[in-house]
Amino acid sequence: MKRSILACALILLSCILLSGACALADPEWMYPVSLETLRDPQDVLRLVNRDHLLDASYPDQDIEMYRLVDVTLPVTKGSHCLRQVAHDALAELFAAAERAGYSLYVGSSYRNYRTQEVIHYNRVKRMGYDDGYSQIAGASEHQMGLAADVVSWAYKDSFQESFGETLEGIWLRENCANYGFILRYPQEKEQITGVQYEPWHLRYVGREAALYMTLNDLTLEEFTEEYQAALSRYERELEAGQAQREASVSL
Ligand code: DAL
Ligand code: ZN
Repeated sequence: MKRSILACALILLSCILLSGACALADPEWMYPVSLETLRDPQDVLRLVNRDHLLDASYPDQDIEMYRLVDVTLPVTKGSHCLRQVAHDALAELFAAAERAGYSLYVGSSYRNYRTQEVIHYNRVKRMGYDDGYSQIAGASEHQMGLAADVVSWAYKDSFQESFGETLEGIWLRENCANYGFILRYPQEKEQITGVQYEPWHLRYVGREAALYMTLNDLTLEEFTEEYQAALSRYERELEAGQAQREASVSL
């Protein structure tokens, strides 16, 4: 009799300890991109489009990570700048392209809000309508200093969709994610991005996110929706765990 009471007491104690241990553990992060990446300390995952506009003052040059540096890579013409993190990654991409036998050139990079306004205005005026190739001011990733238009010399004066079918264009599409870039405006995703196919427009997002998006054929719009849902779920589970811990402490 005494032994069975003791056994029951032990079982009860283990249950209490186990439930305490469960309540103490943080929820497991199950999404295939790391929390560290998605918390985006470098602000490289920011979604920018016509629904998510940048202020005219972005990027704040008083903040170290936003500071723009001169592009020291081959360019089609003029001078260019990018955020350091994007420039370093682009330098690695250009070096890899050279090793593969391809020469690439930066055709466009950082543009401020005002320049974008003028470009958009001129394009609409020239075409007679907004053909979706040029973003309105505030909606362009070029303002972030994280986007570069990259082409071969043959396309230096005119960016055209056919660049995507050239050896350089194919190499870029197949390799850019290894260096942290996505082709931001892919074919057949125009309805989602709101922008026409641009096989030259690279956007830096970091290697982990770029590889995930590319492997899963996701635009930044789709990826953002997906990972933000995962983040919200996780935050809710964290809060529930916290509440459970507080309740067990006050028991
Ligand atoms: N050409 C891209 C969409 C831009 O204007 O940002
Ligand atoms: Zn571009």
